[in-house]
Amino acid sequence: MLRVPPVRSPLLRALAGQTNAPPPIWLMRQAGRYLPEYREVRSKVSSFLDLCRTPALAAELTLQPLRRFDLDAAIVFSDILIVPHALGQKVEFAEGEGPRLEPIGDARAIGRLNLDNADHALAPVYETIERVVGALPQGIPLIGFCGAPWTVATYMVEGHGSKDQAGARLLAYRDRTTFQRLIDLLVEASADYLVAQVRAGASALQVFDSWAGGLPEDEFARWCIAPTRRLIELVKAKVADIPIIGFPRGAGALAERYAKAAGVDALGCDTSLPVDWIRDRLQSLVPVQGNLDPLLLVAGGKELDRRVQTILEMLGSGPFIFNLGHGIRPETPIENVERVISLVKAQRA
Ligand code: CP3
Repeated sequence: MLRVPPVRSPLLRALAGQTNAPPPIWLMRQAGRYLPEYREVRSKVSSFLDLCRTPALAAELTLQPLRRFDLDAAIVFSDILIVPHALGQKVEFAEGEGPRLEPIGDARAIGRLNLDNADHALAPVYETIERVVGALPQGIPLIGFCGAPWTVATYMVEGHGSKDQAGARLLAYRDRTTFQRLIDLLVEASADYLVAQVRAGASALQVFDSWAGGLPEDEFARWCIAPTRRLIELVKAKVADIPIIGFPRGAGALAERYAKAAGVDALGCDTSLPVDWIRDRLQSLVPVQGNLDPLLLVAGGKELDRRVQTILEMLGSGPFIFNLGHGIRPETPIENVERVISLVKAQRA
């Protein structure tokens, strides 16, 4: 049975198309290394994936930013690469190096992946969600998430993060059938994963397409929009009312097509999208979220104040969720986070 969503939640109101003053605020990657209390927990567990798969610790990490800051949503502590792990790929997070996966570059390796153990492997995330929902204050929804099939596939094929995702892009051009098989598997696995997160208590979802940028428009339609649309259709067939935010980072002008065709309820906007363009071309289609430069949050000062005001002025008079344009950086001073939240909360109609 679906839980009734928390009442009077500004985030859910914004996702339903309402304008709020002040707008709700949360921060992508709001749990993480910029918090001393995160580093403290992190130092006790050698493997980052083990952290994601230990519900007591993952729940604690999810709640940490909410204890410190006046945020309007929690996001479950996990990682997008837990899905390839659940499909049977070897995934590790090397200290200071980011993710390392055993690359899967051909039909045989892709054929070895399977859904058989996925639900079992992902069960700790569902338990984390149950714990967090039991501990969150009334009116603070929990956001569940997954990586978009394209972005997750880029890591699976390359084995690590990269500048231009050349490995995945080349495989997609050279062997469309094989790459499509990988994408289809990810659509199915991610849909099951998101539905289970909602059943465990998530009240909204975000699909992170962090590497959606740089694709030609037909490839973008094929590998970003179409799989996301199918993923969302599968999720909504099971949990019809769940609001879903899509974050096609780097999509540029293609963000408009994505907003029209991917089936998302709201659009996460990255730092590079001009705020007047977001207002005129995107906010008229769907509620928008974003898009403060995470580096400005590191820098602080008058420039930070000015930019926060600009974003609020340009986007605050429509359905809007204040956020960063990409994840928060580990070197972010805590007082700058406090400053931004207080500026946003001071916004009146
Ligand atoms: O938002 C939250 O607080 C929830 C947690 C969350 C993490 N990863 C925890 C994490 C979320 C939503 C993610 C998403 C994620 N993971 C994305 C999409 C968003 C984005 O930033 O583009 C991507 C591409 C990943 C893959 C990933 N995970 C990378 C590239 C890295 C290494 C770089 C880095 O930022 O550290 C990770 C590791 C990771 N995921 C950490 C955290 C807190 C740091 C691990 C550590 O503490 O050692």
